[in-house]
Amino acid sequence: MGTVYLNGKFLPLEEAHVPVLDRGFIFGDGVYEVIPVYDRRPFRLHHHLERLQHSLDGIRMANPLTPDEWETLIGRIVAEAAWEDQGVYLQVTRGPAPRDHAFPKTVSPTVFVMANALTTPSAEIVAHGVAAITAVDNRWLNCDLKTTSLLANVLLRQLSVDAGCAETILLRDGFLSEGSASNIFMVKDSVVLAPPKSNLMLPGITYDVVLELATSEGLDSTVRSISDTELRAADEVWLTSSTKEITAVTSLDGKPVGNGQPGPIFKRMHTAYQVFKHQVMRGKE
Ligand code: PDD
Repeated sequence: MGTVYLNGKFLPLEEAHVPVLDRGFIFGDGVYEVIPVYDRRPFRLHHHLERLQHSLDGIRMANPLTPDEWETLIGRIVAEAAWEDQGVYLQVTRGPAPRDHAFPKTVSPTVFVMANALTTPSAEIVAHGVAAITAVDNRWLNCDLKTTSLLANVLLRQLSVDAGCAETILLRDGFLSEGSASNIFMVKDSVVLAPPKSNLMLPGITYDVVLELATSEGLDSTVRSISDTELRAADEVWLTSSTKEITAVTSLDGKPVGNGQPGPIFKRMHTAYQVFKHQVMRGKE
């Protein structure tokens, strides 16, 4: 599994331990990031570090490291990992303290960083897409924070596993918010539509990349609320995330999306994403 970082030390994963009173364990009191790394180059690292800062601000925690310190630390984890393409996971919790909901007077945050192999969508998934189901978004109202308190997301995601599907698409008050672990786009009459960033969804780094690529591809895109009815009448539906990149959803609640195959705009966007990734690998972003 290789070297991980825990509270100032680089050590093998098996030797990385946190106290049971860590508030991350007791309350899920922490935040995290997942950063894709292509050819040992972190993709959009500064955007991820900015979102980390937003999450820390949202849970009223000071950032334990400066952006430069994060970059150095992540650089070392990436350099020591076994794979060229990685998903770097980092987590900051409010640290160990006697169990009490209120913040401890003195906080000694727990900082953990590890790298995993990055598994991007298979050729089969690119060619045929994935199935998804919908569910009512029953999460809290701070979904813009990437917190480790993921129980609602975990339960929602499991609904799709139980249904043999790849993702659960969430609807709140009849409007699309996001997936249990991804952002969601749709296409209608060649226009790319995405819900606006708000407290109801995670501001995805891939979401931004996809909107930028849509513009550079000369596609029309509109960021606005999307109703349940519109989603079900979409020509194409996509999900996006750092690990899923851009993936076509070809079946929704057991019904085909469009003709049930990845659509023409998905194919253009998928190609554009791969080209963009390769530019990153060559250090040209
Ligand atoms: N999840 N929305 C949710 C709820 C997510 O968990 C994620 C990503 C996204 C997409 O964000 P980004 O494009 O920045 O990866 C949207 C990560 C990959 C995870 O929890 O493993």
